[in-house]
Amino acid sequence: MFIRNAWYAGAWGHELGTGNMLSRKLLGESVLFFRKSDGTVTALRDRCSHRFAPLSIGRREGDCVRCMYHGLVFDAQGKCIEEPGRKGVSQNTDVRHYPTVERYKLVWIWMGDPARADPDLIPDCHFQDDPAWASDPRYIHYDADYRLILDNLLDFSHLTFVHENTLGGSKKIAEIRPKIEQTPEGVKMTRWYLNEPCVAPYLDGFATFDGPVDRWHVYSLSTLGNVFVMDSGSAPAGTGAPEGHRVPEAMQFVATQIATPEDETHTHFFWTYAHNFRIEDAEFTRMLGDRILAGFLEDKFFIEKQQEMIKEGGAEGMAFILADNGLALGRRLIEQEIAKETASAES
Ligand code: FES
Ligand SMILES: [Fe+2]
Repeated sequence: MFIRNAWYAGAWGHELGTGNMLSRKLLGESVLFFRKSDGTVTALRDRCSHRFAPLSIGRREGDCVRCMYHGLVFDAQGKCIEEPGRKGVSQNTDVRHYPTVERYKLVWIWMGDPARADPDLIPDCHFQDDPAWASDPRYIHYDADYRLILDNLLDFSHLTFVHENTLGGSKKIAEIRPKIEQTPEGVKMTRWYLNEPCVAPYLDGFATFDGPVDRWHVYSLSTLGNVFVMDSGSAPAGTGAPEGHRVPEAMQFVATQIATPEDETHTHFFWTYAHNFRIEDAEFTRMLGDRILAGFLEDKFFIEKQQEMIKEGGAEGMAFILADNGLALGRRLIEQEIAKETASAES
């Protein structure tokens, strides 16, 4: 089950050229994306209304798409405008059109009630295209339930173990108790690791200062769209980073991580790792992204293994430990929202 009345990241803008079509399953439905001649993106159900052939194996004809099975033509709003051999078109031949907005380098799609698709509800991911920050857009496909990815993000104690030689590098990450807050959008977590001997392993060779370090992860999950935005970084110890004072040599990052369900057991993971130093150095941005990717692939390995175990024996009976408070809140908020949508659909 998924929350439907939310903006989900459906594609990176760069995935859609001028002539191509992209088919991607989202929330269990195959969606066809393409860019129109005016530069804007449209999204249709990737299923012809006639005999359900995918439109993605059809043909672009200007801003329309022709189903190449029996030739129906649909415009960018999903309206059937041509039926071979007939003047006009038969009834009930339109296909579903979904509202989309391109923002922060992403194409956002609304798959719930179109009347509620307010672009102001798109979570703030502006660090992805803020000129004061640099990042490159990345994508990972998961053979796992999106909720397992959210669980992972809402419990960073795993950094000590899963990411021992990459993103973690400190026992303290598993030992501290984070501050957990419920926000209007979802969950906020605050974690500080003060006076650590060195920066995380993924920053080896990149450090802008020597000596002990104050590290932090402060992040929010918006449960509508499963969007994480995380302020993280490393500053020379004792220079006031926890109070908000970031000295020039502090290395600051804003990670955006978005888990869009493909279906119940597969997920699209869109992410960036923006930095506000060496922003003109594209090679640095790429190397940093590759090091973060190495860490994220460690998550993927564990999470997909978890999914295999759940497939084998179900998800009931998991033990609850102290570190689970954040993820439990995230799960509860998602369940409440789905229950609300289900109740309003039934009334
Ligand atoms: S299935 Fe598309 S026109 Fe027949
Ligand atoms: Fe992780």
